Amino acid sequence: MQVQVREAENTDLADLELLCKVVWISTYATAGIEPSFRPYLEKTFSKQALLNTMKATRIFLAEAGHLLVGAVNFNPKTAEISNLYVLPTMKRSGIGSRLIDACSEIAETAPWLTCWYRNEAAIRFYRAYGFHYTGETYFELDGRRHLNYVFTLGNKAEHLG
Ligand SMILES: CC(C)(COP(=O)(O)OP(=O)(O)OC[C@H]1O[C@@H](n2cnc3c(N)ncnc32)[C@H](O)[C@@H]1OP(=O)(O)O)[C@@H](O)C(=O)NCCC(=O)NCCS
Repeated sequence: MQVQVREAENTDLADLELLCKVVWISTYATAGIEPSFRPYLEKTFSKQALLNTMKATRIFLAEAGHLLVGAVNFNPKTAEISNLYVLPTMKRSGIGSRLIDACSEIAETAPWLTCWYRNEAAIRFYRAYGFHYTGETYFELDGRRHLNYVFTLGNKAEHLG
């Protein structure tokens, strides 16, 4: 499969919204759809929210032919990678790696990201790519705190077993 990575444009936002919602649900709604999910997704991945994200960060898209199959955000000021999403049917095809490549190629300092501690597949992916555990933080949704690990590329300060 030929995959191309390019930067997102305004005309991509409707498809990007759909990709983000599909991947978010398939990753985090493991026990079912909670009432807080819909407002969170509407707020976070609305076209307006994505437009704001696009102004503040770089968004890279992965396409197979003309079809959207993955996306990632990269903030060049902080070197934070976020919202790395590959279509469920396209996992393990090298797309996530290509998207991280696009971020690290323009990074001026070591790229880092946060990942839910129970997202074991993503944690295995980040470790395989060369990220190392460098700390912990919390993601808040609907008044509940969810433990996230911080991973930094190439940083050897590993403490997690
Ligand atoms: C995590 C994610 C971005 C990885 O992207 P991907 O395109 O599937 O990953 P790649 O194909 O580039 O994988 C590269 C290597 O990482 C490792 N890896 C990736 N997924 C893995 C898994 N589920 N289990 C073990 N190792 C894995 C493997 O070494 C893999 O190489 P291989 O397939 O030749 O063995 C993707 O699975 C995804 O979008 N998941 C849902 C959303 C998500 O969790 N995003 C991250 C939020 S923090």
